[in-house]
Amino acid sequence: MTVLGDFGHTQDTVKAAVSNGIPPPSFEMPLPDSPEIITANLLKLVGQTPNPRLKFIYQVLVKHIHAFVKETNLSTDEWMAAIEFLTRTGQTCTPLRQEMILLSDVLGVSALVDSLNNPVAGGATENSVLGPFYTDDAEDVDMGESIASEGKGDYMYVEGRILTTEGKPVPNATIETWETDHNGFYDTQYADRSHPDCRGRLHTGEDGSFGYRAVVPCAYPIPGDGPVGELLLSMGRHNMRPNHLHMMVEAPGFHKLVTAFYPDGCDYLRSDAVFGVKKSLVVNMEQVDDDTEARKRGFPRGGSFKLLKHDIILLTEEQSNAIRQQVIGEIEELYTPIKKA
Ligand SMILES: [Fe+2]
Repeated sequence: MTVLGDFGHTQDTVKAAVSNGIPPPSFEMPLPDSPEIITANLLKLVGQTPNPRLKFIYQVLVKHIHAFVKETNLSTDEWMAAIEFLTRTGQTCTPLRQEMILLSDVLGVSALVDSLNNPVAGGATENSVLGPFYTDDAEDVDMGESIASEGKGDYMYVEGRILTTEGKPVPNATIETWETDHNGFYDTQYADRSHPDCRGRLHTGEDGSFGYRAVVPCAYPIPGDGPVGELLLSMGRHNMRPNHLHMMVEAPGFHKLVTAFYPDGCDYLRSDAVFGVKKSLVVNMEQVDDDTEARKRGFPRGGSFKLLKHDIILLTEEQSNAIRQQVIGEIEELYTPIKKA
């Protein structure tokens, strides 16, 4: 007969508790009688990490986490509140909702990682956060066609060219683009979504040009009904993103660009809840009040439309790798004293 043990194991499978096989350190480790000894001991231990990059990351992580606790003189109640907050943040995640990424976003960490991994160089178009609303099922859209079904918002025409840093056209680039409708919702936020809307996939021709019909995107709130929403309220921060048009551009031999364009004039431009806006990504939309031109561009109701005209400049993989290596080198140089510890 099988009987359950204290910890839910069957007695057939219960084995003696064993260590992970790593022996105690051979170096001197004083008993942790003071805050300084705790930090010093842990730094000695993580100094044994075999993977050099991981060792460096652990050393800097320990240095800053321990400094944070000491500098704030963190109380036990505050520490428990943080543990409880992080626990709930993890528990809020579902296959359709990523509260941990949202936490990273509102703390500026996602934007910071993006910036470090996509440094500004050679006049190339800057990166912006991907956000949680990208899907891979966008339909192919030919030159001049619409990514939005009729009635989804005010007309907007988007056009430009994909270029190298030398100004040469990039043919056969794939552009994925997505945006909110006039309600400030992405198609995935509608329970009755039957097909992709306000999103499309385009390919540039030999001259690197692209053009498509869309709608003027709206400012929208990031989810405010979870732990991250509570965090923002506790800071007295709003949870809005300024209106924007997402674009992801890929071409053979070029570094993949994930970006977004932010029309000038939005009230939330300078306080984007997720820090996605960069000066070079703020664009002007031209108001075109020309019924003939609107119909010529394929807008069924004619009248007027906004024109968003902007070229996109890509870095080659080679250019991107060289710049990134330089940035990493400069950052690690700052921590050389720690690495030698
Ligand atoms: Fe977005």
